Amino acid sequence: MKIISIVNQKGGVAKTTSTQNLGVALKKLGKSVLLIDFDPQGNLSSGFGVNKREVEKTIYDLLKAKAFVADKVDISDVKVEKEGLDILPTNIKMAKSTIELSGVPGKDNLLKEILKEVYGYDYVLIDCPPSLDTLTFNALTASHKVYIPVQTEFYALEGIVELMDTVEMIQQRLNDELEIGGVFATMVDSRVNLHVEVVDQLRDFFEANMLESFIRRNVKVAEASSYGKSIFDYAPKSNGSRDYLNLAKEIVGREE
Ligand SMILES: Nc1ncnc2c1ncn2[C@@H]1O[C@H](COP(=O)(O)OP(=O)(O)O)[C@@H](O)[C@H]1O
Ligand SMILES: [Mg+2]
Repeated sequence: MKIISIVNQKGGVAKTTSTQNLGVALKKLGKSVLLIDFDPQGNLSSGFGVNKREVEKTIYDLLKAKAFVADKVDISDVKVEKEGLDILPTNIKMAKSTIELSGVPGKDNLLKEILKEVYGYDYVLIDCPPSLDTLTFNALTASHKVYIPVQTEFYALEGIVELMDTVEMIQQRLNDELEIGGVFATMVDSRVNLHVEVVDQLRDFFEANMLESFIRRNVKVAEASSYGKSIFDYAPKSNGSRDYLNLAKEIVGREE
């Protein structure tokens, strides 16, 4: 079982979109997949059409049960199935986590402990919030790999040093198995010189960690999640579904 965090502390770089569509692409490649919505905004949950107001138990209840030895919550009480994958949804209640979990011993290890009891998946993908705090630390502590989506804009590399420092800190203190799986460009328009230049800059910076596959800007990708569907369900013949399938193949090639 490979556990992968999708991380970038910048918002709007396609973390959630990539977690959703990579998850479904991996399923298409015959893998069994669990997705974890680890951003209190719950965009991954709504991207799959999960009604966040109606979910009774979320990944946050699992975290709290570990933190406070409260009522036992079973993962099967949280799990929902969409498009053939299992999802652990969340909702805005999770926004209290930084405060509620502060002072809990081992607060960065909670997700790792939860996932020790999870079996039977080839891939677990964790959609992280746009911040480098307790939730992201939990995700990185539980993961074997981190994959980083980067939007090809002028400030693309800004914040990357901070992110790399965080990964190193986690490697040193919390999870010495963590490795960078790869970096991939998102919302690329190859007609725009800047985008091509940014991809080159990323390749110079990340070298072998820069993936060959990238995701083109494609309005269908954005539409799909607003309809509560992956790109494969909403527009299977679109560039978006081709790009995410290629990305998934490249990741499988690296991981297996
Ligand atoms: N390939 C793409 N083409 C067009 N729009 C995209 C693409 N990928 C993501 N988006 C849109 O960009 C916005 C940010 O994506 P999102 O996945 O929510 O980012 P993050 O999780 O990093 O904050 C969303 O509105 C999403 O629909
Ligand atoms: Mg997101």
